[in-house]
Amino acid sequence: MPRLEGKVAVITGAGTGIGRATARLFAAEGARVVIAEVNAAAGEQTAQLIVQEGGQAIAITTDVTEPDSIQATIDKAVQHYGGLHVLHNNAGGSTARDSNVTEAPLEEFWRVIKLDLFGTFLGCRFGIPAIVRSGGGSVINMSSNVALMGVPGRDCYTAAKGGVAAMTRSMAVEFAPKVRVNAIAPSATMTDRVRTLVAGNAALGKLAESHLVGLIEPEDIASMALFLASDESSKVTGHIYPVDSGVIIS
Ligand SMILES: NC(=O)c1ccc[n+]([C@@H]2O[C@H](COP(=O)([O-])OP(=O)(O)OC[C@H]3O[C@@H](n4cnc5c(N)ncnc54)[C@H](O)[C@@H]3O)[C@@H](O)[C@H]2O)c1
Repeated sequence: MPRLEGKVAVITGAGTGIGRATARLFAAEGARVVIAEVNAAAGEQTAQLIVQEGGQAIAITTDVTEPDSIQATIDKAVQHYGGLHVLHNNAGGSTARDSNVTEAPLEEFWRVIKLDLFGTFLGCRFGIPAIVRSGGGSVINMSSNVALMGVPGRDCYTAAKGGVAAMTRSMAVEFAPKVRVNAIAPSATMTDRVRTLVAGNAALGKLAESHLVGLIEPEDIASMALFLASDESSKVTGHIYPVDSGVIIS
C-alpha cells in the first residue's frame, strides 16, 4: 500500500527545490498534495508535474509570512480535500547577504526571521487545529544543520533555524498525542539554486570533501520528510533529524 494513502498534505514553498521533490514523492506515495507557494507559476508547475505523473495536487498561491494568506490556504485545503493530516513548513532559505552578528544587514535578520521562523509559526498556528479536527497527523518543520553545530558567518539564518528547532520541541509536547511535530536539519542540498551558486567554484570541492557519503540531493530530504509524514514514524515526535551526509559528526 502507498505509504501516504488517504492523507492530505500541505507543503509550503513547494514550487521549487526540496519542497517540489517532497511534493512529488508524497503524491507518488498516495497523498493528495497542496502546493502552498508564493510564486504562483512555480507552484502551478509543481502541481501540473504531479498530475502528469498520475498524482493528485493543487497549487494555492500563498505567502507564509501573511496570517490571512496561510489561514486561507489551510481552509481551502480542507475544503478541497476534506481534511489535513500533514503540514510541511518548508518555505525559507538563506541568502548571500547573511554574515556574522556584527556585520549582517539588519534587514536580512528580519527577512529570515519573518520567512523561516514566523512563517513556520503561522503555518502551525493555523495548520495544527485543522490536523486535530481531521483526527491527528504530522507537522514537519524545516530547520538546518546550522541549528545543530557552530557554523560561522550566517547568524541571521542560524537564529531563525534555531528558533524553528526549539519551537518544534515545545509544540511536540503541547500537541501530543494527536499531532507529532518534528523537524529536518539538512546540510547543503543540491537544489537548482545551490547548484548554480557553487558550480565551478571552490565551494563545490569543499562540500564534496565534507559530505562523507556524497552530496545531498533534494530527494534525500524528501525521503526523510516521507518517513516523518507516514505512520511508520508514529512514535517519533519532538526531534530534529539531520540529513547531512555526516557533516555534523565529522
Ligand atoms: N538547499 C539547502 O542547502 C538547504 C539546507 C538546509 C535547509 N534548507 C531549508 O530547506 C527549505 C527549502 O530550501 P530550498 O533550498 O529547496 O529553497 P528554494 O529557494 O529552492 O525553494 C524555496 C521555495 O519557497 C518559496 N517561498 C519563498 N518565500 C515564500 C513565502 N513567503 N511563502 C511561500 N513560499 C515562499 C520560494 O518561491 C521557493 O519556491 C528552506 O526552509 C531552507 O532553509 C535548505
